[in-house]
Amino acid sequence: MRKKIVAGNWKMNTTVEEGRKLAAEVNSFVVGLENNDIGVAIAPPFTHLTEIAKSIDNDAICLTAQNCASESRGAYTGEISVGMLKAAGVKAVILGHSERRAYFREDYKTLAKKTDLVLEQEIKPIFCIGETLDEREAGIQADVVKKQLSESLFHLQATSIQNLILAYEPVWAIGTGKTASPEQAQEMHKYIRLVIAEKYGNDIADNLTILYGGSCKPSNAREIFSQADVDGGLIGGAALKAEDFGALISSF
Ligand code: 13P
Repeated sequence: MRKKIVAGNWKMNTTVEEGRKLAAEVNSFVVGLENNDIGVAIAPPFTHLTEIAKSIDNDAICLTAQNCASESRGAYTGEISVGMLKAAGVKAVILGHSERRAYFREDYKTLAKKTDLVLEQEIKPIFCIGETLDEREAGIQADVVKKQLSESLFHLQATSIQNLILAYEPVWAIGTGKTASPEQAQEMHKYIRLVIAEKYGNDIADNLTILYGGSCKPSNAREIFSQADVDGGLIGGAALKAEDFGALISSF
């Protein structure tokens, strides 16, 4: 059975102290859950990771980074390597977020390199794909996500791709309050699974967790998460309030 996951991407929010408090609140919620089949991940900023690793149950919450360097070490001022993240207790890394693609010009080659480095360290990439509003209005969303998958991931062997988590995040739904309808989310998730199946076979595609991201909140999560090919969410704004994030985890 596919793993259900709710992951919180805190983006560039909270100080270390605020983050530690938020993580502790999420932790007490998660540790108190009776159904622990749902995976929970939080992705605080880099500066918080070591401190938060000490204040959560690292078996119950998957400590996640929002990014990593595309090189493993050396003279890359300001960068953080996957090895450093691993040593800080990180178990997953978000890659290919549309904000990184748009504002930091991360292209498919950089993302392929980062994916390889993350997998080499036996850390899980949470790999994001999704179309912009212009692309959706032009009706090319399926081609866009297929290209994003094939250019950055299809060099991987089947044994590697199964260690990945995908996140479909339509750019027009991120931080806009405009969520994809449950039908739109399901249509895209089903298509993404089909593209994976064509390349890697049905077994791998059926077992791959695909998260939905974009203005997910307690009031709409239940319907989105109940779609056949949606296995949970990558949450931005609503992950910054423990109460909302807890309600999202309880949405399954
Ligand atoms: P929002 O939930 O704030 O729309 O952000 C989604 C997102 O980008 C998660 O990575």
